[in-house]
Amino acid sequence: MPESAACRVCGGVVVAFMDFGKQPISDCFLPPESTAPEHFYRLVVGACESCTMVQLLHEVPRERMFHDHYPYHSSGSARMREHFRGVAEHFIGTELAGDDAFIVELGCNDGVMLATVAEAGIRHLGVEPSGSVADVTAARGIRVRKDFFEEETARAILAEDGRAAVIYAANTLCHIPYLDSVLRGVRELLAPDGVFVFEDPYFADIVRQTSFDQMYDEHFYYFTARSVAELARRHDLDLVGVERLPVHGGEVRYTLARAGARERAAAVAELLAEEAAAELTARHTLDGFRDRVLKARDDLTALLRDLRSQGKDVVGYGATAKSATVLNYCGIGPELIAYVTDTTPAKQGRLTPGSHIPVVPHQSFADDGPHYAVLFAWNHAEEIMAKEQAFRDAGGRWIRYVPGVRVD
Ligand code: SAM
Ligand code: TMP
Ligand code: ZN
Repeated sequence: MPESAACRVCGGVVVAFMDFGKQPISDCFLPPESTAPEHFYRLVVGACESCTMVQLLHEVPRERMFHDHYPYHSSGSARMREHFRGVAEHFIGTELAGDDAFIVELGCNDGVMLATVAEAGIRHLGVEPSGSVADVTAARGIRVRKDFFEEETARAILAEDGRAAVIYAANTLCHIPYLDSVLRGVRELLAPDGVFVFEDPYFADIVRQTSFDQMYDEHFYYFTARSVAELARRHDLDLVGVERLPVHGGEVRYTLARAGARERAAAVAELLAEEAAAELTARHTLDGFRDRVLKARDDLTALLRDLRSQGKDVVGYGATAKSATVLNYCGIGPELIAYVTDTTPAKQGRLTPGSHIPVVPHQSFADDGPHYAVLFAWNHAEEIMAKEQAFRDAGGRWIRYVPGVRVD
């Protein structure tokens, strides 16, 4: 019997389809001298038999993940900076064009999106619990509340600032297990004709590409149009828009409005039909996904062992949260990957969680010129390939594992 749990959205039965075993906190990079024991949890993913929501079976307490040392800075990618400038400009030209419009962003991180909104002189507020990035946002002159968004937070914002024309969240809603409280808050805070827009990794893309590394502690939910429509309905909201996005390995931007307030775009029915045809949460689909993950693990470890036995230098590129799942699930440590290079100062000089591989600055990688680099930041491949021509020219090869293991 596979493991099961109660669905966090509808109370139905969530049946596990993927068990990654014991995993560390994905963004908890360790000082090399640390002797404190690491925190581990069980990473098990399942799908609800009633509402189809794909979710984790074990929740990690939020304070363990989002705190004053949270190392992820959204502005680390040039392409994502462009993406979020586009998002802000779109809102400024549409939903925020009215008088005194107000936008709230959940998980604003280092202010990558709100910076453009603030520059335009539009009323805004970021809600960001991680002090490490909330402080960066505040220092940029952007209004930020250092807090977790939930119903209580929404009430406090409503009392202080009034209703919001737009509530926006990128790569944040899927991080929040307690969606009931969040959606009650959204409903209270949203203007009668306002929109709640959020973008997150799309489960259909995860299945299609076998991007199993999207599964880790922070990603509690893996949305589809079907599961989001059901979630919205339970809160008297409507899913009125969907848009597929090419960022972070494939996402969907969902637009919710108060029930009856806006017309449903045709794209919603189209995506729902596509999902139904793909039988995304059918047993055979989920079993097939698990079989491909097992193969990716075997192929990757076999390749790395083979290269090491030939005396090749293999390193990692991008100390992503995603890489925690790959390294710990595959049992890869410093004996197979000498170091991981990453541009984030807060990760450098530390060890990857669980697998204890040193994280080094980009310059060390450039000076070292290894034979092979495992591309853990594969979602930023285009940007990285463009700037790593020297690595290729010197004979360096990329190792990928999404959608399957290959050497480029
Ligand atoms: N929006 C940025 C982006 O797309 O790059 C940041 C995404 S980051 C992966 C997720 C962010 O959500 C973190 O900065 C985290 O601190 C924040 N977060 C986690 N739980 C939250 C909550 N309940 N309310 C608001 N923000 C939250
Ligand atoms: P993400 O996939 O969650 O956005 O994380 C990307 C990580 O990769 C982040 O730690 C920054 C790092 N990175 C580099 O080291 N070099 C790069 O060129 C890019 C785009 C990201
Ligand atoms: Zn459910």
